[in-house]
Order: sequence, then C-alpha cells, then structure tokens
Amino acid sequence: MSHVFIVGGSGQVARKVIQKLHQRNVAVTAMYRDTSQKAELEELGARPVFADLTKSSPDSLKDILKISQADIVVFAAGAGGKGGQEATNLVDGNGLEITALAAEKAGIRKLILVSAFPEAGRTKDLGDNFENYMQVKKKSEYFLTKTQLDWIVLRPGTLVNDIGTVAV
Ligand SMILES: NC(=O)c1ccc[n+]([C@@H]2O[C@H](COP(=O)([O-])OP(=O)(O)OC[C@H]3O[C@@H](n4cnc5c(N)ncnc54)[C@H](OP(=O)(O)O)[C@@H]3O)[C@@H](O)[C@H]2O)c1
Repeated sequence: MSHVFIVGGSGQVARKVIQKLHQRNVAVTAMYRDTSQKAELEELGARPVFADLTKSSPDSLKDILKISQADIVVFAAGAGGKGGQEATNLVDGNGLEITALAAEKAGIRKLILVSAFPEAGRTKDLGDNFENYMQVKKKSEYFLTKTQLDWIVLRPGTLVNDIGTVAV
C-alpha cells in the first residue's frame, strides 16, 4: 500500500487529494507551515508535518521524507501570487527543485508535480507576475525531467470548487 507525502499539504488541491486518498485507505502525510492548519489536516485524515520550503534544504527535507516512510511525493505547493515574483521563484521554483532532490536522496522514486496549463487565461492580459509564474512552472517541469525520478506533470487550467463533471 502506498504512502503519499504532499508538499503544500494545506492547499486547496491538497485538501481534496487528502480526502480522496483517505477514503481509499491510503496513508497521507501533509506538509504545512501554519500551526492553525494542523488540526484540520488531521480531521481530513492526514498526518501533518511542519516544514517551510523556503527554510528547507534537500537534506533537511530528505530527513522528513524518510521519517514519513512515503513512497510517492505530490508537489502541490505554490506561492499563489502572494509575495510577488520572488515568492513564486522560491516556492514554485526552488521549492520544487529542493523537493525533487530530497525525494531522490530519500530513495523515493515517484513524484507528481501539480504544474499549470500554459495556455490558461491567454485571452486576458494577466501581467508580468503571471508570465513569471508560467515560466517558473515550465522550468520546474524541465528540472524534474532531468532527475532520476519517475515523474508525472499535471497541468490544470483554472480550478473551481464545483462538483467534478468528468468531462474533458
Ligand atoms: N488553483 C488553481 O486554479 C490552479 C490552477 C493551475 C495550477 N495550480 C497549481 O496547483 C498547485 C496547488 O494549487 P492550490 O490552488 O491548491 O494552491 P493553494 O491553495 O494556494 O495552496 C498552496 C500550498 O502551498 C503552500 N505553501 C506556500 N508557500 C509555502 C512554503 N514556503 N513552504 C511550504 N508550503 C508552502 C501553502 O501553504 P500556506 O497555506 O501556509 O500558504 C499551501 O498549502 C500550485 O502549484 C498552483 O500553482 C493551481
């Protein structure tokens, strides 16, 4: 049985993933960085583990991954536009690189990256920060392809909280 470790474990995508995995009796560890989120993550069925990507190194995150005994990492972290380009570069960019290197060091083979659909919102002028976000996501995808990991890149467009329709 797999054990999934979610980086960005308190986010909107992660919460849905935790619920789905919990329903299927798959163990989940959720990384969070705001202590007020801990109890809710436990209620959703995850084992919460406290860490901040901007204060992590491949070695420190490797130790956390090893303790979790996870065999799959899901990277669902993102600065979400808060903190401008610097935060995006640190979390969506450096954060993914640190996570991928940590997974390799921990001997975890599988990593799923929640990236972004590059054509999303192209009918609007979304500004420099959005262009930077797309470039960082692309660079992160490329970084992943150069690792020894078995990776999957997901590229959602704009996500909503409605019930899924299974339509593509
Ligand atoms: N939502 C969409 O429409 C959409 C569309 C396409 C792609 N995506 C991508 O999908 C991923 C997940 O999206 P989402 O909507 O679930 O985002 P979200 O709700 O904003 O969640 C982002 C997660 O990343 C965490 N995070 C931020 N900075 C961090 C740091 N320094 N260290 C550790 N964790 C940190 C957040 O923790 P805090 O709660 O502490 O901030 C949160 O758990 C993101 O990479 C996003 O770019 C989202």
